[in-house]
Amino acid sequence: MSEHYTQRGYQIFRAALPRDLVSALADAAQLVPTYRGEIRRQNGMMEVNRFHTDTSLVANAAGNAHLSMPPGLDAIHEAMRRLITDKHLWQCLHELDGAERYTIHQSILFLSSPNTDLHIDSWAMDTHPPGYAHSVWIPLQDMDRTSGVPCVIPWPKTKLITEADLGLSPEPSAKDRYSRYHDALQEKLQAASPDVATAFMRRGDVFIWSSLTPHCTMPCRPVVRERLALQLMVRPAHLLCGRFGVEEGWQENADRVSDLFSFLRVS
Ligand SMILES: [Fe+2]
Repeated sequence: MSEHYTQRGYQIFRAALPRDLVSALADAAQLVPTYRGEIRRQNGMMEVNRFHTDTSLVANAAGNAHLSMPPGLDAIHEAMRRLITDKHLWQCLHELDGAERYTIHQSILFLSSPNTDLHIDSWAMDTHPPGYAHSVWIPLQDMDRTSGVPCVIPWPKTKLITEADLGLSPEPSAKDRYSRYHDALQEKLQAASPDVATAFMRRGDVFIWSSLTPHCTMPCRPVVRERLALQLMVRPAHLLCGRFGVEEGWQENADRVSDLFSFLRVS
């Protein structure tokens, strides 16, 4: 088990993945901008490409391409499956928490930087108890200071800040619950002038943070530019699923795709 990960909630692995597998997915991703049909997106909907104004840069990231892609984009599906079920990725995860098998809940293929504000991924998906799920960020091209790389605020892996901790009352039905929480969280965190951790990663590197670790995207230049990256949401398969603000854990159906990985079954 990684003491660094337990104490600081993130780990950066250098030259951990075979570069040919990473490059194969980057090459296949070049098929997306000229594709005219609908592709499943990060939000789960089937949509055509939406471009940043006056560019050929795709704004809406592809979602769960490891499960299916339309005809003509099979190369992305295949390259992604090879990369995300590779034993080198399992070794990174296993080094963090010692689990024997991992369930991949979601993949997001970014073609440009999403420019996300400070947040925790536990709201989208977590384990029960919280803090044991991983967000895996894999650059598909070499990154530098202008690339819009993610960064984290180093954070104890299972440290949960609840709505009550922020002086908010939990209202499960409130439409602005997510934004209200994150506004308050951001204010609290920034008041302490926190360190942030990031790296100018190369192809083959992997950045992993815990579901409770606050993170955001650093600015990129120009504001809109190509930035190919793959993000995975993963949990150790033996743990229950959970989500921020939900008291109980639950089981989900998953399909075993190798000795090391399962894929969550998405209806
Ligand atoms: Fe995130």
